[in-house]
Amino acid sequence: MARNISTTFDLSGERAVIVGNGNVALDVARVLTVDPDHLATTDIANHALEALRRSNIREVVVLGRRGPLQAAYTTPEFLALAHLENIDIVVDPADLELDHTSRALLDAADAEPALAMKYTLAQEYGAMPAPELSVNKRIVFRYLGSPVALRGTGRVESLDFVHNELIEDRGRLVARPTARTETIETGLVLRAIGYKGTPVKDLPFDEARGVVPNEHGRVIGPDGSPVHGVYVSGWIKRGPRGVIGSNRTDSVETVEHLLSDFSTGRLAPPRAGRETLKALLAERQSDLVDRDGWKAIDRAETTAGDASGRPRVKLTTRAALLEAARE
Ligand SMILES: NC(=O)c1ccc[n+]([C@@H]2O[C@H](COP(=O)([O-])OP(=O)(O)OC[C@H]3O[C@@H](n4cnc5c(N)ncnc54)[C@H](OP(=O)(O)O)[C@@H]3O)[C@@H](O)[C@H]2O)c1
Repeated sequence: MARNISTTFDLSGERAVIVGNGNVALDVARVLTVDPDHLATTDIANHALEALRRSNIREVVVLGRRGPLQAAYTTPEFLALAHLENIDIVVDPADLELDHTSRALLDAADAEPALAMKYTLAQEYGAMPAPELSVNKRIVFRYLGSPVALRGTGRVESLDFVHNELIEDRGRLVARPTARTETIETGLVLRAIGYKGTPVKDLPFDEARGVVPNEHGRVIGPDGSPVHGVYVSGWIKRGPRGVIGSNRTDSVETVEHLLSDFSTGRLAPPRAGRETLKALLAERQSDLVDRDGWKAIDRAETTAGDASGRPRVKLTTRAALLEAARE
């Protein structure tokens, strides 16, 4: 459930830099540049929409530490940017020169078609002339750069980044800084560098991967055998990757194994009924939101949306969500 949101961002400058080039970076770049009148037809939270209406940002730089082939965004999301109205996607063709290993990866007979597509798209963006910033807003992709310093008095005014080269390290191409640095003037720097799972009390944990060790959702103990009656799904199961659909498939897999364990007698039969379970949950968690509560939140949000012709108006504080759930 959402925590109370009190974060505010300074959108008074003309440029923002996002560090990291995964799909979250693309989402943020899009929200910062799309016309707020368009966003007003979506379920964006009201306070965010109001802040964006006052925003001066005209250019968002997406800074990736590795090259265009290693960019973390997925190809459909990268392609979708081309369809944004009045927003130019800018790539400097010089940034698209490939190192020897990346070139070999791309040219390999068994290269993933999605890899070639990702690169071709970047080339197509690179070939497009970018009109003046006064005409359109823009999203600029920079590759092979890592931030090394933020400068400014009382607020960020610029970001220094170092140009990287790629080297092979244990079968992976990683970024290594060169001696070349560059400065970007910016009034806002955002970080979109992914996530890592944290341990869950009393469960085994794989520190390196940030996941609870499991086989198809069944939690596996240090001795390699399943931990009785404990299952995981989502990012704590397979790491912080994939789109919403991947989480759906993932949870179906886990539940199928849970049900199969139950029907083959691998799980102890329940000692009490549904009502006892409900009472126990309510005793342990007074703020519990069940399916009916979720439906009540959904109703409250969509009803508020109806009044303003929007799909929904999101409740953004924990208190408001709990209040709606109780009604
Ligand atoms: N529309 C959608 O379907 C959608 C929308 C949002 C998110 N998602 C999914 O949600 C998951 C998380 O997305 P995400 O964008 O948060 O994470 P992500 O895909 O893991 O991307 C993280 C980015 O941050 C970079 N990075 C990590 N550590 C860094 C560091 N110390 N310095 C500089 N750069 C660093 C990574 O570079 P390296 O590659 O070099 O590590 C990568 O570019 C992804 O699977 C994503 O596809 C999907």
